[in-house]
Amino acid sequence: MDNKNLLEIRGLKTYFFTKYGEVPAVDGVDITVPKGKIVGIVGESGCGKSVTAMSIMHLVQPPGRVIEGQILLDGEDLVPKSIKEMNKIRGKRVSMIFQEPMTSLNPVYTVGKQVSEAILLHQEVSREEAKAKTIDIFRKVGIPEADKRYNSYPHQLSGGLRQRVMIGMAMVCDPELLIADEPTTALDVTIEAQILHLMRRLQRERGTSVIMITHNLGVVAELCDEVYVMYAGKVMEHANVFELFENPQHPYTHGLLNSIPDTSGTKDRLYTIRGMVPNLLKLPEGCRFCPRCDKAMKICTMREPEMHTTTEGHEVRCFLYDKEVMKNG
Ligand SMILES: Nc1ncnc2c1ncn2[C@@H]1O[C@H](COP(=O)(O)OP(=O)(O)OP(=O)(O)O)[C@@H](O)[C@H]1O
Ligand SMILES: [Mg+2]
Repeated sequence: MDNKNLLEIRGLKTYFFTKYGEVPAVDGVDITVPKGKIVGIVGESGCGKSVTAMSIMHLVQPPGRVIEGQILLDGEDLVPKSIKEMNKIRGKRVSMIFQEPMTSLNPVYTVGKQVSEAILLHQEVSREEAKAKTIDIFRKVGIPEADKRYNSYPHQLSGGLRQRVMIGMAMVCDPELLIADEPTTALDVTIEAQILHLMRRLQRERGTSVIMITHNLGVVAELCDEVYVMYAGKVMEHANVFELFENPQHPYTHGLLNSIPDTSGTKDRLYTIRGMVPNLLKLPEGCRFCPRCDKAMKICTMREPEMHTTTEGHEVRCFLYDKEVMKNG
């Protein structure tokens, strides 16, 4: 374990055992989150982004479970931890912001009380101190009239303010790792920009590591240091953000980048990747992306490609970068 890294996910497999069969939602994923960095996970709907996050948090529900792999937080594996041990880690060392804040806030308590309770759970402070800390974090996340808002119920706040409450709740115990699962998808673009700016600021000021899950490559370009591209439960490409945008290698990444809305007006339609997201119950033999790939070769239908390092820190799961295969044609 490299001590520059806060989180190392190694060979993670999280499967759902349904009556229709085994769903390999996360199928051998390796992701590294260096200390103080923002790591993006991108990929189309259903590729396993949220299940990866839920696996870290021990929030995967039956019929799903982690069947293999390690999730090392500062060298300590979270996978075998008990509920009791995880309750000490969740919300304190690792916290998560969910996509739709309304579903993770309790409608019958004021937002102030909910954040205070989270503090009381993890810190040895009095109720008054917890309240003061809550109002302080509300101010930090840019909630106007923070002391008044303390007494608001979730439904009395706009989507943007509710998301700020969630970010405040996630940040209040100063976690080492913040997992944000599409934190701005439900918000309009102005609020989105404010929230992203806020997350960047918190990360800079406190040195928090962040996992940013999004299908918005604009968000990745703006916010992330490193990017992982997932497809059908596997990481297909990983590089730092400049490298990924400058020198994308996997045909799937090319497809994703080409499907960014073009605002220059020169293209008359959005590029979309042909074909459909695969059914995880009936994955093709060989490379999972093969049926949709422009560059597919015979071998791609036969074997699964391994991860190849092309330049330092740039990895791609594709036979085009397999020297042996390319040499022998
Ligand atoms: N309860 C479940 N039962 C069976 N399969 C599930 C269940 N939850 C998730 N899955 C499977 O796991 C796969 C990955 O789901 P996940 O929620 O991680 O996708 P995602 O990448 O977060 O997508 P999105 O961008 O839509 O949020 C899905 O394709 C689905 O097949
Ligand atoms: Mg998701």
